[in-house]
Amino acid sequence: MAYNLLLSWNNLDKLFLVHKNILSHLTEAVLLFNRNLELTYINSAGEILLADSKKHLLGLHANTLFRMSGSNLLIDLQQCLNQEDPLFDREIKFARLNQSCKVNISATPLFSNNQVNEVLVEIQQVDRQLRISKEEQLFAQQNISRLLIKGLAHEIKNPLGGIRGAAQLLELELKNGDLTEYTQIIIQESDRLKALMDKMLGPKKPAKKELMNIHEVLERVRQLVNIEANHKITLITDYDPSIPDLEADKNQLIQVVLNIVQNAVQAMHHKGRITLKSRILRQLTIGKKTYKLTAKIDIIDNGPGIHSDIMNHIFYPMVSSRADGTGLGLSIAQSLIHQHNGFIECESEPGNTIFSIFLPLVSDHEKD
Ligand SMILES: Nc1ncnc2c1ncn2[C@@H]1O[C@H](COP(=O)(O)OP(=O)(O)O)[C@@H](O)[C@H]1O
Ligand SMILES: [Mg+2]
Repeated sequence: MAYNLLLSWNNLDKLFLVHKNILSHLTEAVLLFNRNLELTYINSAGEILLADSKKHLLGLHANTLFRMSGSNLLIDLQQCLNQEDPLFDREIKFARLNQSCKVNISATPLFSNNQVNEVLVEIQQVDRQLRISKEEQLFAQQNISRLLIKGLAHEIKNPLGGIRGAAQLLELELKNGDLTEYTQIIIQESDRLKALMDKMLGPKKPAKKELMNIHEVLERVRQLVNIEANHKITLITDYDPSIPDLEADKNQLIQVVLNIVQNAVQAMHHKGRITLKSRILRQLTIGKKTYKLTAKIDIIDNGPGIHSDIMNHIFYPMVSSRADGTGLGLSIAQSLIHQHNGFIECESEPGNTIFSIFLPLVSDHEKD
C-alpha cells in the first residue's frame, strides 16, 4: 500500500514535470491569476512578453502588470471573474518597455467548488507569426536573386580572361606604339570588370568559425572607422558585456559590420553620429529554430535615412542609390550572416537608421 502510494507520487511528479516542460516551451504566454487578480503562475513566453522574470512578477496584481500595456486586459479579467464567461480579444495593441506588438488574448475562468477561483490568460503575439513567415519569404527571395547574380557573374567572368589575353598578344604584335593605348584600355577595363564579378560572386571561402567575442569585431570596426573618417564621425558604443562568446568567422563579421558602418558614413557625407550597440535576446525564433540566446547588434546612424523607393529592396543585389555604388554590400552582408544562421533587418526614418544583426548563440529546439 505504502509502495503504491510512493509510485503514484512519483508518477504525479513526472506528470507535473512533463506539464511544466510543455508550458515553458510554448511560444504563447500563459498566466494564471487568483480571485484577487494576483499572478500565481507565468511561463517563459510570458516572462519574455512582460520583459521581467517570474521572481519579480509572481504575486503582482493584474493592475500593476498591465497598467503600461495600453490594453483592456484588466477589464477583461474583471469581467471574466464576474460573469464567469471566457473572453477573447483579437489583434489588440500591447505595449511593453518602449515597443508595442499586436496580440490575441483569451481569458478563461477556472471553476473549483462551483465558483470561479482562478483566471487563465493566454496571450499570443500575432505580429510575431506574421514576421516569421515574412522573414522566410524574404530569405528565399534574396537567395534566388543572389543565385541569379552569381550565375550571371560566372558567365561574364569566363570570357574575360580570353579577352584580356588576346589584348596582351595583340599589344605584342603592334608596330605602332600609339595603338597600345587602346589595348591598355581593354586590359584595364577587363581587370575592373573581373574585380566587380568577383565581388558579385561573393565570398569564396566557407566560414572559418572559432570561438570569439562579438565585441572584438565591434571594436575593430570602431578603430578602422576612426582612422578612415578622421574623427569627423562620432562613434558611440553601448555594449552589453555579459554576451557570451560565439562560434563565428571573425573576418566575415568584421566585413559585415564594416559594410553597414561604411554605408552610414557615406549616407551622412562623412559627418554625423554612429552608435554600435550590443544586447542579448532570449527565446528568439529565426526561420524554424528557436534560440535560447541571440546576440543583437544595432548599428544606428543619425543620417538622412534610406530612400523610401529602395527601402524594401536594399538587401537584394545591385540595389544602390549611389552613383559609384555596386549595391552588393548589404546583399553580401546578409548572406554572410545567413551562414551564421542569423539575419539582418533594418528600420529607417530621417535622423534614425537602425541596422540590426541577429546572431544566434544557443539553440533551444527545432520547430516543425
Ligand atoms: N545607413 C544608411 N543610410 C541611408 N541609406 C543607406 C544606409 N545604408 C544603406 N543605404 C542604402 O542602401 C543602398 C545599398 O547599400 P549597399 O548594398 O551597401 O550598396 P552600395 O553601398 O554599393 O550602394 C545604398 O546605396 C543606400 O542607398
Ligand atoms: Mg555599401
